[in-house]
Amino acid sequence: MTNSNKVAFSILAAGKGTRMKSPLPKVLSSVLGEPMIFGVLDSIRVAAPDAPVSVVVGFGREEVKKAIASEPRFSAMSIDFVLQEEQLGTGHAAKCALESQWGKRIKDESRSMVILPGDFPLLNSDVVAKLVAEIDGKVTLLTTERPDPTGYGRVIRQEGGARIVEQADASPEEQSVKEVAVSIYAFDPEFLGAALSELKTDNAQGEYYLPDVVFAATREKALKIVEWREYEDLSGVNDPWELALASEKLALRRVKYHAQNGVRFDDPKTVRLGSQVELSPGSRVGAGCELEGRTKVAEGARIEADCTIRNTEVGTDVHVKRGCYFEDSAVDARVKIGPYAHLRPGSRVGAGSKIGNFVELKKTELSENVAVSHLSYLGDAKVGKDVNIGCGFITCNFDGRVIDGKRKHETIIEDEAFVGSDCQTVAPVTVGKGAYVASGTTVTKNVPEDALAVGRVKQENKLGYASRLRGMGRSR
Ligand code: UD1
Ligand code: CA
Repeated sequence: MTNSNKVAFSILAAGKGTRMKSPLPKVLSSVLGEPMIFGVLDSIRVAAPDAPVSVVVGFGREEVKKAIASEPRFSAMSIDFVLQEEQLGTGHAAKCALESQWGKRIKDESRSMVILPGDFPLLNSDVVAKLVAEIDGKVTLLTTERPDPTGYGRVIRQEGGARIVEQADASPEEQSVKEVAVSIYAFDPEFLGAALSELKTDNAQGEYYLPDVVFAATREKALKIVEWREYEDLSGVNDPWELALASEKLALRRVKYHAQNGVRFDDPKTVRLGSQVELSPGSRVGAGCELEGRTKVAEGARIEADCTIRNTEVGTDVHVKRGCYFEDSAVDARVKIGPYAHLRPGSRVGAGSKIGNFVELKKTELSENVAVSHLSYLGDAKVGKDVNIGCGFITCNFDGRVIDGKRKHETIIEDEAFVGSDCQTVAPVTVGKGAYVASGTTVTKNVPEDALAVGRVKQENKLGYASRLRGMGRSR
């Protein structure tokens, strides 16, 4: 961990990201289920958790603020938002940060100002820690060598330092330079302020270029260059293709981390894991799974192929069969679920239960050892332990009316009840303890404990009727 007392961080995140062709501000583009700026904030959170941070916002400012403010893991950090009303370039963005209340504070506290781009989802805390450790002079510039430097500012080394030439301004000879700038630098704030006020917009993009400050430091013999070997850590995202590449790289890194920690992956290249996902050693994840948010998978759990699991806890020795989709739910120990089961928010499947194919639960809690084996929908329901529910059961929880703001009604099925196949319960309704609901019954009133509920048309057999019907010309 670095000495946070001496540094402050400013993340440039005001741009629209025109090349993304999306209405969302670029830094909120999702990488493995999270806005890409979260990766940048994480690298600070780990390397220098106490350092003051400012995020320069402009395009989609409210959305960006809201996304960051509502993420619990950033709540202990000191994060301010600085407005860049018009996006006149990265130099202008840095100026907005420096001239804000936040900028005044970091000058008063004699901190170095580290600038980071908001569009580097692969950035990590090692990079940040290294830059901070190497801060020296007025400007410390981080560079890397890319096999294909296209799009990045080229570092043209010269006597006493370097200058940076943007892609759009570079001559063919300059374009062949593989050492690039990556929008990561540390500045002495006083020096930065003076240098920014000298910036001009006489370049191909007509913008205030922050990289021009590097040349100002070279003139004063006050530039230090720090090189980072792993260029992939420093990959910017400017269009959907770069977003896809960054997601792919990050995905494999995460899988590798968990695999080295004892998790088995059947097809590592196809798995997508969010940054907050916790997988216990001894668990197993199949091909094509996407695990996101605060998902936890306990020891011995096995998740077959093509499951999407978001903000859900999967307990010990659970077996999730192919094609399940879980959101904001919990699956307790030893449950067998799927294939193709859907847990919608607010659901819990109790220990030892069995959920079969094409079963959907919404806001429904099942206690222990419940079986819902085939083709059923349970919404707004509470189900006691050792309950068996047959095939094709439906809780009818909505009658089209909204009463006292309540749209949905609750179904309660008490312990040890047995519900036959092809039944419905019209909520609000309770099936009492140990009660028996006969197949084909529509339950519209409470079933007392230990009662049998039958609600279906009585069967009549008309002997010989079938051949009579055939004689009437009924086609077979
Ligand atoms: C910038 C650098 C380039 C570097 C590259 C690394 C400049 C002029 N060029 O180019 O040297 O190799 O990053 O990816 O700095 N932003 C603002 N306000 C603005 C303009 C941009 O906040 O007025 C933010 C953007 O939201 C983005 C970051 O700054 O997060 C970088 O801007 P972008 O337009 O992506 O710059 P590049 O062309 O990639
Ligand atoms: Ca960029």
